[in-house]
Amino acid sequence: MDTQIFKPTQDSIKSACDIIKNGGVVAIPTETVYGLFADATKSEACANIFTAKDRPQDNPLIVHISDYDMLKRVALEIPEDAIKLAEAFWPGPLTIILKKTELIPDTTSAGLDTVGIRMPSHPVVLEIISKTGLPLAGPSANRSGRPSPTDAQTVYNDMTGRIPLVLDGGDCNIGVESTVVSLAGDQPVLFRPGYITKAQMEDVLHKEVILSKGITEELSQGEKVLSPGLKHKHYAPKADVIIVNAEFDKYKQLVEDENATALCFDEYADKLNVSSVCYGSVKDSASQAVRLFQALRELDEIGAGRVYAMMPSTEDVGLAVYNRLLRAAAFRVVNL
Ligand code: TXA
Ligand code: MG
Repeated sequence: MDTQIFKPTQDSIKSACDIIKNGGVVAIPTETVYGLFADATKSEACANIFTAKDRPQDNPLIVHISDYDMLKRVALEIPEDAIKLAEAFWPGPLTIILKKTELIPDTTSAGLDTVGIRMPSHPVVLEIISKTGLPLAGPSANRSGRPSPTDAQTVYNDMTGRIPLVLDGGDCNIGVESTVVSLAGDQPVLFRPGYITKAQMEDVLHKEVILSKGITEELSQGEKVLSPGLKHKHYAPKADVIIVNAEFDKYKQLVEDENATALCFDEYADKLNVSSVCYGSVKDSASQAVRLFQALRELDEIGAGRVYAMMPSTEDVGLAVYNRLLRAAAFRVVNL
């Protein structure tokens, strides 16, 4: 299959809609990361997504909607808390898990009776959802196990020959995938941290949002998990990444003694006598979120072996950064 890459224009957006209506898959920018989008209501269309990504069959897809009518088509029950979160954070980087309707086939939800639903804010994906009139399944547009892509060229590199079209909407503003919260049980549970924080949701809901196991610690083998994404190995670069929780002087000594590669904050690259890749400002978790996945891919491009990553703040958006970095490091953290 030939893979084309176009800027979003009236023509290319129409092509994208036609491909999707015919059961195909298109890579489209969102405000978080690029996604691979297909008709969420058609089993074969979603099967094409799993094939393009080499994705494990047991990992459900998020369904993207453009309005509240679509929400009613895909969600069986819409609890009051869902309305509150949607009003506060949609369109935007929040996925809400609810009980699904019959419209969503088992392939899309990986056999679960729930579905993750998100109304994205990026104008290109919103336009395509509303023009097709279809809820669209959309995982991140990387090959399974690789960092999520935040620019079109990276999508192209992962997906060439696997999908017909990539729409190039430039770099993603947020850079990490949406926050995933479940409202399908008795209490709200955070399955994946993102740009919308636990504290922001608690402010809106006036109740506690529980942190799921697996966000900041490794699940043990065979442990029961409500969100399959928590157990899959993710974001792994080929490099051997270890997170270092230490004062700068100790960090510097470690990377330099071992002549390792530094995955460091922008402010420190000049102070280190080893090769380094930067991942945002030490003072700004959002800038780290924007940079992290690209930085992980750069480590592979420069052929990094052992990589020592500076420990990010775990507050607010920092929790999303730490969660992704932990997976890239296979949960290895050293405290000095
Ligand atoms: O920002 C995003 O969410 C991007 C863009 C493209 O919208 N999409 C994305 O999808 O990150 P994906 O498939 O790469 O990650 C979806 C995560 C997985 O960890 C999956 O296990 C979890 O959400 N998930 C989806 N539906 C679920 C459900 N019904 N129950 C539990 N977890 C679910
Ligand atoms: Mg993904």
